[in-house]
Amino acid sequence: MILVVDFGGQYNQLIARRIRDLNIYCEVVPYNKALKELENRKNVEGIIFTGGPNSVYEENAPKIEKEIFDKNIPVLGLCYGMQVMAYTLGGKVVSAPKEREFGKTEITTETSEIFKNLDKKETVWMSHVDRVEKLPEGFEIIAHSKNCPVAAMANVDKNLYALQFHPEVNHTIHGKEMLENFVVNICGAKKDWTMENYAKKAIKEIKEKVGDGKVLLALSGGVDSSVTAALISKAVGEKLTCIFVDHGLMRKNEGDEVEEAFKDSGMHFIRIDAEKRFLEKLSGVTDPERKRKIIGEEFIRVFEEEGQKIKSVDYLAQGTIYPDVIESGLGDSAVIKSHHNVGGLPDFVDFKEIIEPLRMLFKDEVRNLGRELGLPDYLVNRQPFPGPGLAIRIMGEITKEKLDILRDADKIFRDELEAAKLEDINQYFAVLTSIRTVGVMGDFRTYDYTLALRAVSTTDFMTADFTKIPWEILEKVSNRIVNEVDHINRIVYDITSKPPATIEWE
Ligand code: XMP
Repeated sequence: MILVVDFGGQYNQLIARRIRDLNIYCEVVPYNKALKELENRKNVEGIIFTGGPNSVYEENAPKIEKEIFDKNIPVLGLCYGMQVMAYTLGGKVVSAPKEREFGKTEITTETSEIFKNLDKKETVWMSHVDRVEKLPEGFEIIAHSKNCPVAAMANVDKNLYALQFHPEVNHTIHGKEMLENFVVNICGAKKDWTMENYAKKAIKEIKEKVGDGKVLLALSGGVDSSVTAALISKAVGEKLTCIFVDHGLMRKNEGDEVEEAFKDSGMHFIRIDAEKRFLEKLSGVTDPERKRKIIGEEFIRVFEEEGQKIKSVDYLAQGTIYPDVIESGLGDSAVIKSHHNVGGLPDFVDFKEIIEPLRMLFKDEVRNLGRELGLPDYLVNRQPFPGPGLAIRIMGEITKEKLDILRDADKIFRDELEAAKLEDINQYFAVLTSIRTVGVMGDFRTYDYTLALRAVSTTDFMTADFTKIPWEILEKVSNRIVNEVDHINRIVYDITSKPPATIEWE
């Protein structure tokens, strides 16, 4: 396995994903735990240092122990990772604001294992102010650019390599090949990480662990909980109970689709139709925060009532995935997200342990695993969908009528975008505003709702750009919605990015 040592860089998860895409297993560890991790594990074949926002000569900049380089394990330093390597091994790093490089840059490479089968001139993505000025002993320069004499360096005898640029981003044209040269040729890592293997291993482990015990899972119908359900049910069948609380705030057909996918899967599947009680609780409520709170509390209450019938289980399953683990391990972004989690752990059922079988998987791997387990595409490819559902996509009061209008319009928008197969679009949906405006249909005046369309391009959902959907597609969507869905006579497209707006409207 490859250990990715995190120095706080914005692309840290991307590096790990690239390695996993090569079918090689890797894990991300914070820089201050790296040495310990290395000593605890027997199977580390290579180490990659990520970039980071600091300058290595700052007092509080993250540093790394020298011993890490004495373990006879190849190390690749990227950007800050290269600087910290140089600094630790006795080289010199300086700030060079005048020669800073940002963006696509051409480098000239020397013959080196890491550039094997690549061109003499390569286009790479630079983003640095500091640079290595004096090489540590035993190193040689293996690439330079116009402004940066040490764009890459290596100590071949010790298998230490470092790149000032970011091979993990797509703008580095042959970045994937460079990473592959490192992990495969230099580290000798085996390409045996596949979801087929993972599924087999996880099913076996869950079976052994659960034995005759009982497992409980709250199934939301989202990708993570669906794949968790499919995996555990393959392992323990009816010893798994899934409670699917249908709050009636789902998209078109979604509740039925979830039921369809799971009702005959061997597990104990319980769908609770709670639409009426959610709508009653939400009646007359317009404030977004109140809506969220009511839904969260009601969700727990429904789950609680069902849970009490079961009383005690041995394991509570959760669909936690690797980005959440990495983020909470480093302590930053988790807080930003906490308001997104509906409820918390149910304390009304006794259980002895939590099982999280997707804990080490990235989202694309979770989707692949879902396919491997035979889940239908409509579940596996599902976009992120907020816990409070359409309640926060209807401005103002929520009624069944408004929910049905929104569901129909949203379905048309999503169908058309799926058919258009646009690239670089990560979430798209419709929002029913509470604004009504005057329109004309045939010879009649209408006074109906304005619908907003929202589509964003993003990698982390923390920041996002609005997607530049071609006009013709928007035109088709607009025509179809006003013709096919009653009570909408005007459609607008949201052209704000995040920040300053958020992705959802409430
Ligand atoms: P915002 O609107 O904060 O959304 O820019 C960022 C991402 O999070 C999703 N989101 C939620 N997910 N419960 C969730 O599980 C929520 O309450 C919630 N609110 C927003 C949103 O769809 C987007 O993908």
